[in-house]
Amino acid sequence: MKYDFDKIIDRRNTNSEKYDSLKRAYPLSDENTIPLWVADMDFPCSDAIIASIKERLLNPVLGYTFVYADDEYKSAVCDWMKDKHDFIIDKKDIYYSGGIVPAMCVLINTLTNEGDSIIVNQPVYTPFMNIVKSNYRNLVNSPLIKDENGNYTLDFDDFEKKIKNNNVKMFLFCSPHNPIGKVWTKDELLKIGEICKKYNVIVFSDEIHCDIVRKGIKHIPIASLFEDDDIFITGTAPSKTFNIPGMKVSNIIIKNEEYKSKWKYYTQKRLHVADPNVFVPGLVKAAYKNSDDWYNYMLEYVEENFKYIKKFVDENLENVGFEIPQATFLGWLDMNKYDIDYSKLSDLFVTKGGFAIQHGKQFGEEGIGYFRINVATSRKNIEKAMNAMKEVLKDIPIK
Ligand SMILES: Cc1ncc(COP(=O)(O)O)c(C=O)c1O
Repeated sequence: MKYDFDKIIDRRNTNSEKYDSLKRAYPLSDENTIPLWVADMDFPCSDAIIASIKERLLNPVLGYTFVYADDEYKSAVCDWMKDKHDFIIDKKDIYYSGGIVPAMCVLINTLTNEGDSIIVNQPVYTPFMNIVKSNYRNLVNSPLIKDENGNYTLDFDDFEKKIKNNNVKMFLFCSPHNPIGKVWTKDELLKIGEICKKYNVIVFSDEIHCDIVRKGIKHIPIASLFEDDDIFITGTAPSKTFNIPGMKVSNIIIKNEEYKSKWKYYTQKRLHVADPNVFVPGLVKAAYKNSDDWYNYMLEYVEENFKYIKKFVDENLENVGFEIPQATFLGWLDMNKYDIDYSKLSDLFVTKGGFAIQHGKQFGEEGIGYFRINVATSRKNIEKAMNAMKEVLKDIPIK
């Protein structure tokens, strides 16, 4: 294999959030702490992606750039979504955004009013909550619940009741779900979609993690199940899939004509954020059209890291709950059996263990006692962190 993900690339001093702002988030960390927090990968990009950047630089003029009329760009997005997810997208429904989170902010501002209710399912990726509140909307939470087999699902009665009672206008749906790594079943998606249709709730489905699924598991875009309905907006991106989140690229699929014109007005006229940087057109084509070798290797590598963790936990950490997630490169470790203040435990992982993982509380109260670990790094880092975790946990009393 031409890629080597075992090799540790020194990312320090590259303005990397994961490495260079570690100290800000974990003041007790030092230059040797293994950062397993921010959700990007430590892997080098595909050859095709690097080549696309070099090729663009052959022309030294880095002027204003657009993609709205780039048919090849749009075909690359459509073909990928069709091949990987059986999702048929009309090219005219694709809108570039510098990120999924900025897109959610645009949609919240254009499709809802201050004071309107927006529903989420905690524990969930922190900005889901923050952007609702910072845009002066009312945050409604219908938490995920664990079924009799320990699998997370939605409490559909609670979800419907809260939508109805709060006159909810928008649902920020995380599919697959970060941090718990769930891929929603067709049955669940149909139920969710029907409830949202019944109460005219606009669904923004954040599918940024959709390409990173375990072998044999299929992600279904919710919009693909409701082809005749246009309340479903899908957020897609090559950023997580190909490890290019620093390039600021996502594609938002909007079918509804009124939403489209509001999106255009807001992104073009009010905020002037409709256009990408010069590298984006080439990057998207290189990622979706010419990076399959890298993509398949990455899936395998991440899956092997998860298998390593699963075996390690089963053999060494009987009080930690862990299952390999169906999607994402983020593991969700249940440490609720330990009798300790979890922020103290988080500190101990840094000071005694030499690694940094995120306490689940930041994804909502429901995440208390859980830790999220980013496994998209060299196996050596994972091995070191898991062995250090065992050392830290051996001194902590059980409840
Ligand atoms: C569910 C989810 N949505 C969105 C993002 C960030 O997306 P972007 O960088 O495109 O704003 C992340 C990053 O971790 C994520 O996990």
